[in-house]
Amino acid sequence: MLDAWALKPDSLSFEEAAGYPIPVETAFRILDQVGLEPGATLLVSGASGGVGTAAVQIARTQGITVIGTASPANQDYLRKLGALATTYGDGLVDRVRALAPNGVDAALDVSGSGVIADCIELTGNPSTVVSIADVTAPELGAQMSFAPTDISAALRAAATLHVEGALHIPVETTFSLVDTAAAQAHNEDGHAAGRTVVVLPTDVARGRFG
Ligand SMILES: NC(=O)c1ccc[n+]([C@@H]2O[C@H](COP(=O)([O-])OP(=O)(O)OC[C@H]3O[C@@H](n4cnc5c(N)ncnc54)[C@H](OP(=O)(O)O)[C@@H]3O)[C@@H](O)[C@H]2O)c1
Repeated sequence: MLDAWALKPDSLSFEEAAGYPIPVETAFRILDQVGLEPGATLLVSGASGGVGTAAVQIARTQGITVIGTASPANQDYLRKLGALATTYGDGLVDRVRALAPNGVDAALDVSGSGVIADCIELTGNPSTVVSIADVTAPELGAQMSFAPTDISAALRAAATLHVEGALHIPVETTFSLVDTAAAQAHNEDGHAAGRTVVVLPTDVARGRFG
């Protein structure tokens, strides 16, 4: 049963569209959860992955200044998304403070890399920190977000932003159906800039098997 859908804009390929549902629903949900006003400053830890790529761009459309973290190899990628870029790892708090001298209003942990305490130190308030990947976050007073909300509404909003040129979640790598195991291994690595997509043969995609 199809329980969530939206019209795909002509400008969006099927491969790219396939990578949208989870990142865009998650990004809209956690941005709603922190509830920032235009002019606020947001930290996104793990900003170059699927969810981070969506969250950075959507936050920018809401007039929010975004500081994103990623590996050295993805710093330019973050800047192209519209974020102020820095690396994750030791010294994170100092690097973020240098980029946001007036402070950080909220933080999204989308990589689950043990940054909750740093995020709380930066915002000064545990309730302004939301994680989607660190189940220990509530132990420090931060929020954990799991439950999908209105996926169709998120897809419709994402389609509109894509048509406006404000949202693009690149396909980093495509695999054919027979290479699905390799796609899973690639994804488990956790360093994709964008999405990993498995492309089905046309007859399988249309449900014709024999
Ligand atoms: N709770 C929910 O509702 C929900 C929804 C969707 C996803 N998730 C979970 O959220 C996580 C992220 O999903 P995703 O699709 O965005 O993953 P992804 O596409 O694999 O991206 C992960 C990102 O994390 C970054 N990263 C790796 N090590 C890091 C570190 N030590 N510190 C900070 N960032 C680091 C990587 O950046 P570099 O490549 O630059 O190293 C990569 O861009 C996954 O664990 C997923 O299962 C939860």
